[in-house]
Amino acid sequence: MIKTLVSEEKFAKKTIKDVDVAGKRVLVRADFNVPLNNGVVADDTRIHAALPTMQYLIDRGARTILCSHLGRPKGKIVDELRLDPVAKRLSEFLGRTVTKLDDCIGPEVEDAVERMKPGEVLLLENTRFHKEERENDPGFAAQLAKLADLYVNDAFGSVHRAHASTEGVTHYLPSVAGFLIEREVNALERVLKSPEHPFAAIFGGIKISDKISAIKQLDQVDILLAGGGMAYTLLKAKGIEIGQSPINEESLEIAQQVIDDVGEKLVLPVDVAVADAMDAKANWKIVSIDKIPSEWYIMDVGPQTVDLFQEKLRQAKMVIWNGPLGAFEIKPFQEGTYAIARSIAELDAVTIIGGGDLAAAVQEAGVADKMSHVSTGGGAFLDYLAGKVLPGIETLQEKCFRE
Ligand code: 3PG
Repeated sequence: MIKTLVSEEKFAKKTIKDVDVAGKRVLVRADFNVPLNNGVVADDTRIHAALPTMQYLIDRGARTILCSHLGRPKGKIVDELRLDPVAKRLSEFLGRTVTKLDDCIGPEVEDAVERMKPGEVLLLENTRFHKEERENDPGFAAQLAKLADLYVNDAFGSVHRAHASTEGVTHYLPSVAGFLIEREVNALERVLKSPEHPFAAIFGGIKISDKISAIKQLDQVDILLAGGGMAYTLLKAKGIEIGQSPINEESLEIAQQVIDDVGEKLVLPVDVAVADAMDAKANWKIVSIDKIPSEWYIMDVGPQTVDLFQEKLRQAKMVIWNGPLGAFEIKPFQEGTYAIARSIAELDAVTIIGGGDLAAAVQEAGVADKMSHVSTGGGAFLDYLAGKVLPGIETLQEKCFRE
């Protein structure tokens, strides 16, 4: 059963519903940083998630000017990172032509915007083709701002970046949030401020250092399950042989802190799938956690761990999960992640999934639409949980609440 997420917190920022958009030129920063495969969008989750904002603007006759980054072109034009495949997918979703321009600033872009009619949608070229984007250059931000009457940030996946199109531009235009940012923030506020108990957190993925601040903020967690690279580091800190599984030695101290802070709430794998190489053709087997061969790699959690995690999760009323439990991109090491994804999809609990790899895994497991919320953020999701200031949200206009 899917439990819908209703947040008791009020989203503090103005959204497009709080301003008049009719006929206005609206610059919308979306996060269309999507995986491409031979020039075709390989996963359109982020494009899909941005549709409600676009549709709202179209329905009200706004002139919608979309912008986004794609990849890390380092301030140069990289043809493979042009946004044409995104424009194509957007046109299909919206059932109307989304014209893509070849730059995001300059006279030609200004002319094209000038000619827009109410209800039309334009997509600007990758903002990171200009190095000034990442430098948050005020002149570049002003040129973007010049295109519009109103700025809408709906790029939740990029709100942790203080770049010209996510932060700089807010100094030149009235700036509000789109529906995706509102939805994401409400989901995370619910987890941080009013979690339901038993409250379980599952952390996987490679880097423990990225997650530690988030784990610390989740002080109301009743059960903390660890898999993937996160677990290797914790196991090693406990003195368990983890073979050749890659860890960052500097994280061992942090891992020890987690073990000390979380105590008995922490549940680690009791068995794992190990392989003699990190690829699909490798020899592999299931071993108990104290029998990992010194030359082998941990690739996934084992079946007993899956059973143990499932048992721990059975009573949970809220589950937050970041990072896959194994090398899910190498078959057959997706099994642990898929099994846990499928079992939490059946829980009578609020379920929140975060991080690009895990979102993809949950999608592949066929249960993404059974989760209460699948975040479009990776770094942004973790930074929000960690209580960090997010520049792309911070500078948006505040809502005035009546007491
Ligand atoms: C993401 O995919 O996490 C966002 O789009 C941000 O991308 P970046 O890490 O390249 O800034």
